[in-house]
Amino acid sequence: MTSIELITNLAYVVAAALFILGLKLLSHPSTARKGNAISAVGMLVAVVVTLLDRQIISYQWILLGFVLGGAIGMWKAKRVEMTQMPQMVSLFNGFGGAASLLLGWATVSSLNAASAQWSDTFLFTTVFLTVLIGGVTFSGSLVAWGKLSGKMSAKAIIFTGLRELSVLHLLAFVVVGYLFITQPQQPMWLYLAILLSISFGLLATVSIGGADMPVVIALLNSYSGVAATAAGLAVGNTILIVTGLLVGASGLILTNIMCKAMNRSLMNVLLSGFAKPVEAGEQIQGEVKVLAAQDAFYVLEAAQAVLVVPGYGMAVAQAQHAVRELQSLLEDNGCTVEYAIHPVAGRMPGHMNVLLAEADVPYDQLYEMDDVNPRMENYDVVIVIGANDVVNPAAKEMKGSPIYGMPVIEAYRANSVFVLKRSAAAGFAGVDNPLFFKDNTRMVLGDAKDTINSIVREFADVA
Ligand code: TAP
Repeated sequence: MTSIELITNLAYVVAAALFILGLKLLSHPSTARKGNAISAVGMLVAVVVTLLDRQIISYQWILLGFVLGGAIGMWKAKRVEMTQMPQMVSLFNGFGGAASLLLGWATVSSLNAASAQWSDTFLFTTVFLTVLIGGVTFSGSLVAWGKLSGKMSAKAIIFTGLRELSVLHLLAFVVVGYLFITQPQQPMWLYLAILLSISFGLLATVSIGGADMPVVIALLNSYSGVAATAAGLAVGNTILIVTGLLVGASGLILTNIMCKAMNRSLMNVLLSGFAKPVEAGEQIQGEVKVLAAQDAFYVLEAAQAVLVVPGYGMAVAQAQHAVRELQSLLEDNGCTVEYAIHPVAGRMPGHMNVLLAEADVPYDQLYEMDDVNPRMENYDVVIVIGANDVVNPAAKEMKGSPIYGMPVIEAYRANSVFVLKRSAAAGFAGVDNPLFFKDNTRMVLGDAKDTINSIVREFADVA
């Protein structure tokens, strides 16, 4: 090994170590920023070493791409709203997949006719996998972006022959893959592989409903990592293999966490378009009791311990700053305030954590479901803000319910529950919520931000 190779490999080990450390720090909100910065330094090391080590087409082109891509990225990042994050992440994944696909393509087109590499089966197997997974990731992510941003219908698009078409694609992958690997000099097989991968990505995602897209995004994120790993194997770049594996594994872990938190299997999410429609659950008996914001204030004024359970509606209402204000007023009044965060509350992993962090809610006041459930009876009031499925007792009590078995925040066991939403309508899962009908529940109807602002004004009036 030459000294240049030694330095390169050492630099790659340093970069890989920085990525792993970065990932570890990303697992807690208080260290996440540091983790991001450390990972970015790792990426800088990896890019610089790769540029110095490789025969580069031309530094001018790389610089142009860097400036252009960097400017577009910065412009988009500055403009994006918190609620648009899931679709932004989806675009990132898609571009990652496209980059791997292009790398695979470029690897083949850069070979000259006399190259000895044309007989390298390993090379073409990895190129085929790069193109295949990269293409699926690219087109699948574009559909996910379209559904989440409202650019296309969020409904699952199902048509006759969809299942057969999907199976045909899988068979075609095997045939085209074999032909490409055995006859790589025939460009037609590569182009066919690209076309097939893109159309399969479209087929596989259009048939999934918009609300399941966060799980799909996590999975596509994992695919983008696997595509990068295959590309790394094709071009013989160690750091690309390592980063690809880290992204692939973390995306898969996240997908698994989300599926578990929804009590659904990955297959159930991916094949949801083929499934039978959910049958209506048993009718809920009882009456919804409505409370005015002013009356909710009187109860809160006397409370000693309050638990806030945020959900998707808090994000829609952008109520996080009002919630933070209410928290301060309650604390000034001698009440302890804690937050319970369900793993799939909202529409993307960590959705509630990000919103509450934006409003400066201290991290140490955020608790996981398993922390708060055992002490639920200790809370005087649980304020459910735009959450529905994640507090639905049907998951515990109604055997026939489609969400039966899903772990939920057991708000119904608290002394009293205030549900802040606009109506008694069902949540994302489309399942009625018996919590709204419990004796200890009061519905404070209206937009969550308006309701909390009204309560905040009541506090200000008595101060
Ligand atoms: P949901 O069950 O979706 O309920 C949100 C509620 O917010 C709705 O019932 C709606 O009721 C209310 N709402 C909407 N706008 C509001 C506003 N301006 N003010 C007040 N309330 C408003 O939310 P959740 O409890 O957070 O559960 C999340 C769901 O998404 C779960 O079923 C989960 O499985 C699913 N999901 C989540 C993820 C991730 S990673 N987070 C991924 C895939 C699926 P009204 O219309 O009556 O106001």
